[in-house]
Amino acid sequence: MSSHGDPIPMTSHPTGALTGVAEIPGDKSISHRALILGALAVGETRISGLLEGQDVLDTAAAMRAFGADVRDHGGGTWSVHGVGVGGFAEPQDVIDCGNSGTGVRLIMGAMSTTPITATFTGDASLRSRPMGRITDPLAKFGAQAHGRSGGRLPITIEGALTPVPVDYTLPMPSAQVKSAILLAGLNAPGTTIVREAEATRDHTERMLRGFGAEVDVSEEGGSRTIQLDGYPELEPQDIAVPRDPSSAAFPVCAALITEGSDVLVPGIGLNPTRAGLYLTLRDMGADLTFENEREEGGEPVADLRARFSPDMKGVDVPPERAASMIDEYPVLSVVASFAEGKTHMPGVKELRVKESDRIDTMARGLEANGVSVDEGEDWWTVHGCGPKSVSGGGTVAARLDHRIAMSFLVLGMGAKSAVTVDDAGPIATSFPIFEPLMKSLGGQLERTRR
Ligand code: S3P
Repeated sequence: MSSHGDPIPMTSHPTGALTGVAEIPGDKSISHRALILGALAVGETRISGLLEGQDVLDTAAAMRAFGADVRDHGGGTWSVHGVGVGGFAEPQDVIDCGNSGTGVRLIMGAMSTTPITATFTGDASLRSRPMGRITDPLAKFGAQAHGRSGGRLPITIEGALTPVPVDYTLPMPSAQVKSAILLAGLNAPGTTIVREAEATRDHTERMLRGFGAEVDVSEEGGSRTIQLDGYPELEPQDIAVPRDPSSAAFPVCAALITEGSDVLVPGIGLNPTRAGLYLTLRDMGADLTFENEREEGGEPVADLRARFSPDMKGVDVPPERAASMIDEYPVLSVVASFAEGKTHMPGVKELRVKESDRIDTMARGLEANGVSVDEGEDWWTVHGCGPKSVSGGGTVAARLDHRIAMSFLVLGMGAKSAVTVDDAGPIATSFPIFEPLMKSLGGQLERTRR
């Protein structure tokens, strides 16, 4: 469902203290994977805490189009009656993944070793993003892709008739590419191998194991080799989706920059391949505590508490941490604007090919709000204004990017003057309750008339 309605301009006014408990929805990455692996298992998978954001709803619709019986039982509980590895049916219509790079890339992988043909598209943001990074490795399995110039959507994939296993070294740190290859490898004979120089999020490996696949991971000096045996019979599972650390970042960061704030965010997934933001905030001097650390559904979780932190200092973010916080650089740059000194963020070329070019989109938006930024192809530096010293007052183009929209609405809460984003609509892709949740903590968000 790529139809994006009329833009929803939204203004965030400076607030007093943000306080209370922030109940964050389910993890987006894990929600996509639960639906896709559920569709590839034989029998019924039950999922609780599924993120009901548009990205995940689009993946649910796609799994139905490939023949799985996907049902919404209300309250975040879903069931998926899967068709088994190799059992996907040919969809009767184009698969529209909306705004979701994760959805389209994982699904292309999952269908590419079954002898069916499917055509994929998405919204204007997704249609501008590179897909050659997926179709290149899928071609090695024997799948053929026909797309627009530059490897852009819409793309038609003809699944391999007699797939062969693949040994592939990721040319860029990407969990989406890694996952597409592993999902393709399910319906290929022998062992499929993916090698990554930096560890990216490992939800696919963890969940594949949970479903009964043979997955072996070896690690050497930060790089990983993942080996998957083909043709497993995936057993349906009960999956409890942990709450999304990437969404939790918004109320947490808002609390750090607004005077008097004290926000508790319970049950947040803290898989080490996702937790880089929280390490970085600690390095900056943020008042952040992790309570009640435990394991839920095979993933480490904790309750996070964030309080106003007037003594934060800029830091050099280690480039080897980038993969574990790749979605959090926009909101980190907001916090960095309220710190003393420079925050330097190297090794982040991948930010240029997200829902928008996130270095450019953030830099232009920060400048419009009185924050200066230096940037290069794969790095950027934010010059902190100090606590309570960001002027704000700007209007920002969010460029169909949910995390940009939320980041600037957070900035407006701590700034001296209100901040407007031109379109808060895309927030529904990942964090549909962002607006009421932030308001319940004391945020002053207003849908602005155009
Ligand atoms: C994701 C992987 C990352 C991330 C995205 C979710 C996933 O993308 O930015 O939001 O669920 O696998 P890349 O694989 O492009 O780094």
